[in-house]
Order: sequence, then structure tokens, then C-alpha cells
Amino acid sequence: MTPAENLLRVEDLKLYYRASRGLVQAVDGVSFGLGRAEALAVLGESGCGKSSLARAILRLLPRNVATCSGRVLLENADIMALDEEQFRQEVRWVKIALVAQAAMNALNPVLKVGDQVTEPMTFGRGVTKEAALARAQEVFHLVGIPLDFLHRYAFELSGGMRQRAVIAMALVLHPAVVILDEPTSALDVLTQANIMNALKRIKAEQDMSFLLITHDIAAASEVADTVAVMYAGQFVEVSAATRFYRKPLHPYAQLLLASVPRLRDEERPEFIPGQPPSLIGPPTGCRFAARCPFRMPQCDEEPPMLKVELAAPGSESRQAATPSGSTPPGTRNSEPGTSLGAPPLRTRNPELETSLVKCWLHA
Ligand SMILES: Nc1ncnc2c1ncn2[C@@H]1O[C@H](COP(=O)(O)OP(=O)(O)OP(=O)(O)O)[C@@H](O)[C@H]1O
Ligand code: SF4
Ligand SMILES: [Mg+2]
Repeated sequence: MTPAENLLRVEDLKLYYRASRGLVQAVDGVSFGLGRAEALAVLGESGCGKSSLARAILRLLPRNVATCSGRVLLENADIMALDEEQFRQEVRWVKIALVAQAAMNALNPVLKVGDQVTEPMTFGRGVTKEAALARAQEVFHLVGIPLDFLHRYAFELSGGMRQRAVIAMALVLHPAVVILDEPTSALDVLTQANIMNALKRIKAEQDMSFLLITHDIAAASEVADTVAVMYAGQFVEVSAATRFYRKPLHPYAQLLLASVPRLRDEERPEFIPGQPPSLIGPPTGCRFAARCPFRMPQCDEEPPMLKVELAAPGSESRQAATPSGSTPPGTRNSEPGTSLGAPPLRTRNPELETSLVKCWLHA
């Protein structure tokens, strides 16, 4: 594992809600690593647990939580171990900020946008009004909002400008990680592209990392360095974006990509038959089995997250796979630091690209 991947490490994260019919296993054993100035896009269908993942990392939990467990390490410090007050003072907004799903619709209609953007700095953090305003101007510039919009109300802004304003609000304390939950849904494609380009620039210029939650596969390709595909509460593939968009490995990821319409392609987009399973008592074995065209008897058992190495373009190396976190010592795949469940996304061999895939086909 490279030092860059140590910025944020999530290990075996679980978030279950209590519901009248049983436990909703919204996030079930999710692990990943995120490096500095990197963007990880989390893709998945509605209801697969994407927003719950953000909630679990930031401990923004509703009252009916039954289980919230696992480890979340920020710069190698376990932030799950902090008490609520420490977490609020030292982590939330300060080191990890959130642009919540549909946040642009939650801007306060009776406060000027500038007052709302400066609030994370002035509220309980002792930043003077002048310093906060100067920082607000900086972040407005970063996200591409004219400075006079600081003095406007939310209803005077277009949807795209409101979305930029909530992104600006997340940036004001210069967090190391920003979680963006569907930042471009409900916006037209041109505005989506502009916002994605702004994020790409901010990531590089400000040394910030993004966890970009979206079901928009095409928009995510603009900014993602790594892609994680989530299905029924679990990650089923984690791949470098260059690999993922060229050659997704998990059958669900393949079908997901095939469902995206392409302008210059004769082929019609495919749809994925069936529905995801209920997260209350999900099936044992592979959760995608009921919809998978490659299903085989072994799929009745839950596949482990397999580490798959494939030749990078232009290299002759062959494929190899081992269960992630249980790699036998001395094998080609073994690397220090993989046993905690958030393995590296790159190998030391530049000829090989590493993906994590939860599917027996790759065993
Ligand atoms: N407070 C709650 N109590 C019970 N179930 C919940 C609660 N919040 C979410 N869920 C359920 O947890 C599952 C995951 O929800 P979540 O909002 O994380 O999905 P999502 O992937 O973000 O969906 P979308 O793309 O539609 O935003 C869903 O089945 C949802 O109904
Ligand atoms: S484990 Fe089996 S059912 Fe699941 S995705 Fe792989 S082949 Fe399909
Ligand atoms: Mg959501």
C-alpha cells in the first residue's frame, strides 16, 4: 500500500437500520482506501446503500440505527474511536465534509448565500466575519460562482449555481476529503459537465480527495481515478477508472456499463433484468445471483473479495486472482497491508493492474 492510499481507509464498515420487518443491511462489510488528491466514484442503483455509506463515515446516523461498526482511519487515526464532541470538532466539516444528496434544495431561503457559506467557519470556530468572507470569496472563485452571488438569496440562483454554492460550503474549511452525494443529479448535462470539470480542477489544485457517490456512470468518468461498484449493500468491484471503463470485471458492472446509451454506437443499451434483493434478510451466497447470466452452483456460497491482477495495456502478463486479505505469503499477489480489508488498488509491478472483484468467475 502506498502512503497516498493511507489518507482514508474504511474497513469492514456496516450500517444496519432497524425497521418494522427486520434489519435493513444498508452497508454490509464495505472496505476501501482513498489516496490524497484522488477521486473514488461509488456507482450503484438506487437503494444499494450509497448515501448510507456516506452517513456511516460521517456518523450522521438516524435514530433507528441498529449497528454501525467497522473502522474508519483518517491519516492512520481511527476516527470511529472518537467521541461525538471530538468528532464534531475535529473531523466533520473540518477534515471530511459532505455535500448531501439534494443539498442544493436545502439552502435556507431567508439567509443570503454568503451567510450560509461562511457559517461552517463562524459557527463555534471563532473565525472572524472578515476572514470568513475572504475565504468564501476564494471558494466561490474555485467553484466558478460570480462573487456578487454571495449577497443573493438561494431562490435567485439557478440549480447549477445552487449546487456550486453547496459544494463551496463544503470546501470552506479546506477538508482533506469531500463526500459528494449525487452532486449533479437533476441538472442538465452541460451543467453536470461544468461541475465535474470544476471538481477535477479543485482536486488537483487544492490537493483534495473526493468520494463521489452517483448513479451517473458517464459523469463519474470525468473525475474518477478509481471506481467502486456497489450492489445490495456491498462493494462488488473496485478498479482503477482506466480499467473499469475499458473492461469492467464483475458481471453486474459489465451490465451496468452496457446499459449506458452511447451517442456514436450502433448497439442499443441493454437493461438488467430483475430487481436487486431486499436488504432485509438478503440472500445468502452472491447477492447478484438472481440476475446474473453466469450463475453457477458455486454462487450459492458468498464469494470473497478477490484480488485480480490483469496485464496493463501493452504488457504480456497473465491474469491471477486470490481472495483479498487472505493472500498466502510469498505469492505474486501478496503485499503488506492487505490483511485489514482495504487493499491497495495498484500493484508494485507497473505491468499489472489490480482490481478487487466479488465474483466466483475470477477465483
Ligand atoms: N433510516 C432508515 N431506516 C430504514 N431503512 C433505511 C433508512 N435509510 C435508508 N434506508 C434503506 O437503506 C437502503 C439504502 O438506502 P440509501 O439511501 O443508502 O440508498 P442509495 O443507494 O443512496 O439510494 P439513492 O440512489 O436512491 O439515493 C434502502 O433500502 C433504504 O430504503
Ligand atoms: S458470483 Fe456467480 S452469480 Fe455472482 S456475479 Fe459471479 S458468476 Fe454471477
Ligand atoms: Mg442516496
